[in-house]
Amino acid sequence: MQEIGEITESTTSSFIFRADRDVEKHQYVRIEDVLAQIWEVRHTGSGMFAHAKVIGSERRRYMPKSPFKVGSKVYGANEDFIRKILGVEKEGLYIGLLKDSSMKVNLSPEILIQKHICVLAKSGSGKSYAMGVVVEELMKKEIPVVIIDPHGEYVSLRRPNLDKQEMEMMKRFGIKPRGYAKNVYEFSPVCGNNRDAIPLYLDETNLTFQDLLNLLPNATSQQKGVLYEAYKMAKEKKFYFLKDILEGIGESRSNAKWNLLPQVEQIISMKLFSVNYTPLNEMVKKGRCSIINLRGVPPHIQEILVSLLLTKLFEARRNEAIPPLLVVLEEAHRYAPERGQGKSFASDIIRTIASEGRKFGMGLAIVSQRAARVDKNVLSQCNTHIVLKTTNPNDLKAIVASVEGLDSSAADEIQMLPVGIAIVAGLPLAAPIFVEIRPRETLHGGKLSKISKTRKFFV
Ligand SMILES: Nc1ncnc2c1ncn2[C@@H]1O[C@H](COP(=O)(O)OP(=O)(O)OP(=O)(O)O)[C@@H](O)[C@H]1O
Ligand SMILES: [Mg+2]
Repeated sequence: MQEIGEITESTTSSFIFRADRDVEKHQYVRIEDVLAQIWEVRHTGSGMFAHAKVIGSERRRYMPKSPFKVGSKVYGANEDFIRKILGVEKEGLYIGLLKDSSMKVNLSPEILIQKHICVLAKSGSGKSYAMGVVVEELMKKEIPVVIIDPHGEYVSLRRPNLDKQEMEMMKRFGIKPRGYAKNVYEFSPVCGNNRDAIPLYLDETNLTFQDLLNLLPNATSQQKGVLYEAYKMAKEKKFYFLKDILEGIGESRSNAKWNLLPQVEQIISMKLFSVNYTPLNEMVKKGRCSIINLRGVPPHIQEILVSLLLTKLFEARRNEAIPPLLVVLEEAHRYAPERGQGKSFASDIIRTIASEGRKFGMGLAIVSQRAARVDKNVLSQCNTHIVLKTTNPNDLKAIVASVEGLDSSAADEIQMLPVGIAIVAGLPLAAPIFVEIRPRETLHGGKLSKISKTRKFFV
């Protein structure tokens, strides 16, 4: 062990040491069996001093009970020790390297699926890029993924990343370009816009009353009454469809039907349903990544579709009709907005999955550039956090409040993060860590989807 300095001042949670050699901010150091991290380095007339915060020790993950003695020796920490005390997994989903080291950082797929993950950062800071890295790793492990993709940017997971600069970077991370054409399936409710996609239709056979209420979340209590009557009548048939419900509403004597009829007609006209619907066990399958490409779909239809699809997936998962999966929700603030920040048809089911998904093996990956606008009930259920550069003060506040182990000093760090560097926090990590996100094996569609809007170019 290399001695690097001597303690001059100490509390139970942090200490200052005089550094005999050059030390850097964020460097890990060791004192006895305790791991600490440097948060500040100061030059004074009497030398270089570093302020380090205690992370944990071999015997206990918590703060020491008494301060370190002045004069105690401080050493450099080797990678094995850092890995052990921080709790960095040796295997799992390889997302990058611990900053300034060659230590691979892996996330546990089980924790992701049972306890959800969120990727938060301002626009253009690398959220979708990082999420793409996680999805590549899930495909390698053959864990099913469904991506709600409002911009159609994930389809490029099929193609290898042949960007020269990134290929150069890959060497350091020990990866190679690779496409996942066999794993990636694209579905879209508007195949006119997304020609390579498989048409996405939902099953409209024998919708339950709750399904109908989900489709008509703004129905008044009188309209709900009319709907229930129509539903009861339709249910007398072995197989009934939305047109049967519509017929039933038409037969009602209540005046409430006049506002209800056009709402149901509108839903039918959206063509979200068909008897030739997409089987969920085709969408969620071992090794498969299904992309729900919503490019070109009007926002209110997106919400209804996301709400219905997630409801059906959640039911299917509860009945074990499909294997455990991760659902990636891009632009999550649109589908699960915080109270007072707009409404979404999909809010309820997303909240349900966030709180109950863990019991059934249905994980959520929340991706958003507006942390402050995402439903706190959903964010607070996420155990793993990948935070990239964020500058908006409200979003920073929301991030610091929802990510365990971050304090207000971390807010300054988050504002300064360069593209590609993330703060990763959550179980089993003893403290948040800085991670250099690895280059993508696949082509990142974020760039392409922006070009495609003008050039009609699509992968
Ligand atoms: N880890 C990384 N390594 C190399 N380049 C990266 C990395 N992360 C992001 N980039 C670059 O930054 C660009 C923006 O990243 P990305 O599209 O993921 O941003 P975003 O946060 O999803 O933005 P938006 O909110 O607009 O969707 C990418 O096109 C890519 O060139
Ligand atoms: Mg993005």
